[in-house]
Amino acid sequence: MFQRPRGTRDFAPDEMAKRQWAAAAMRDVAVSRGFKEIQMPIFEDLELFTKKSGPGVVEELYAFKDKGDRDIALRPEMTAQVMRFYVSDMASMPKPLKLFYFGPCFRYENPQSGRYREFFQFGAEIIGSNTPETDAEAVALASSMLEATGLGNYVIRIGYIGILRGILKGLNLPDDKIAEGMHYLDKNDEAKFSSFAQANRLPVDRIQSMMEIRNMKGGVDVLDRLGESSAKGYLLEFMECLSLLGVRNCQLDLGIVRGLDYYTGMVFEIDAPALGAEKQVAGGGSYDLVPLFGGEQVFTTGFAIGFDRILIARERESPIEAKLCIDAYVVPMSDSTRKTALGIVKALRGRGISADFDLMRRSLSKNLKYAASIGARSVVIVGDKESAKGAVTLRNMASGDQKEVKIDSIADEISGLK
Ligand code: HAM
Repeated sequence: MFQRPRGTRDFAPDEMAKRQWAAAAMRDVAVSRGFKEIQMPIFEDLELFTKKSGPGVVEELYAFKDKGDRDIALRPEMTAQVMRFYVSDMASMPKPLKLFYFGPCFRYENPQSGRYREFFQFGAEIIGSNTPETDAEAVALASSMLEATGLGNYVIRIGYIGILRGILKGLNLPDDKIAEGMHYLDKNDEAKFSSFAQANRLPVDRIQSMMEIRNMKGGVDVLDRLGESSAKGYLLEFMECLSLLGVRNCQLDLGIVRGLDYYTGMVFEIDAPALGAEKQVAGGGSYDLVPLFGGEQVFTTGFAIGFDRILIARERESPIEAKLCIDAYVVPMSDSTRKTALGIVKALRGRGISADFDLMRRSLSKNLKYAASIGARSVVIVGDKESAKGAVTLRNMASGDQKEVKIDSIADEISGLK
C-alpha cells in the first residue's frame, strides 16, 4: 500500500464540492473589483525564492536538481512569481495592474492541523499605484473574500514594517543582518533577538524603542504614542480609507513583522481565532521585489489567503452546504430502450441540463439507489411500453412522485423542477 507524503491531502468529491464553491465565491469577488486572474508554474528556478524571501521561507523550501542539473524549487508562495512574470511580460500594461491567482504552494514544515506541506493560496497583487487607497483596496479585497465564504469571526491586524526595519537600517546593518533580526522578531524569539542585538552591538535605547513599538496595538489612538513620521500620516489616511470602504474588524498592531523578507511599508495579517495555533488565515502588505528582478521601481502591494485554513475556520462556524447534484439520471429498462435513453441524455445535455445515465446495465431499484447517492434531482425511466408511445416516466427524487412525460417535453419538465 502506498501512503500519501506527509503534510499532503487527498480531496474526496464532497470536500472538492465545498472547495470549489468557496473558490468560486472568492473569484467572483476579485473579478467584480477589476482584478484579473493569472497562473504561474508550480516550480521555478530556486534563486527566485532565495533572493528575497527571507530565512524563514528558505529553510522550508522543497528544492532539487532537475535532469539538466538546474536548481529548482517548488513554489512556497506566488508573489515572487507574479513579479518575475510582471518584469518579463506585463511591465508595459496599463497601471494599476490588478491581478489575482489561486493554486498550490509547498513548504517543508512540521505538519499539524491547518499547517500542511502542500497548501493552497488565493492571492492578489496591485502593481503601479502608491496611494493609501491602493493598500486599502488590497485589504478590502482580502476581507471581502473571507466574507464571501461566509466567515464572520476574523480580525485584521495592521502594521507598518518600515518603522522597525527603518530602525535597524538606521543602525547601518547590512541587509542580511536586518533580515536575521526581523526573522527573530517574526518568530517572537526575544532571547535570540537580544543575543543578535548584543553580537551586533546595537544601542540599548534603539532596541528599547523597537520593543515599545512592537507592543503598540489597538485603535488609531495608538499612533499618538508614535513620534511624528511619514508612517503615522500614511497609516491614518489608510485606516480612514478602510473605514470608508466598509472594512470591519480592523485594529493596529505595529509589532507585525511577517515571515517573508520583501515587505517595506504597510503590512497586515488576518486571524480567525477559531483556529487556535494556526489562526493566521491571510497576510500581506506593500513590498519591493521588481527592481531586484531587473524591472523599474514600481509600487506593489498584495496579500495571500490560506485557502485551506479559511475552509476549516468557516466550517467551525457552520457547515458548508455544497452538495454534489445532477439534474437528471437516465435509466433504460431494457436492451431495446438503451438507444432511446442515450438519445435523451444527448438532448438533455444539449439543453444545458446536467445529465448522467446508467453505465452498468443494472436493475431499476439499484439505479434508484445510485441516483439518490449522486444527488440526482430526477430520474428518467425509459420503459418499453412508454417509449413505444414516445414517452418516459419522470421521477421527482425529492417527492418520490412519478408521471408519464412526452420525450419532447422532458427537458422543460426537468427545468421546472430546478
Ligand atoms: P504568507 O503569510 O507566508 O504570505 O502566507 C499567506 C497565508 O498562507 C498565511 O496567512 C496562511 O494562512 C497560509 N499558509 C502559509 N503556510 C501554510 C501552510 N504550511 N499550511 C497552510 N496554510 C499556510 C505569503 O505567502 C505572501 N506571498 C503574501 C503576499 C502576497 N504578500 C504580498 N503579496
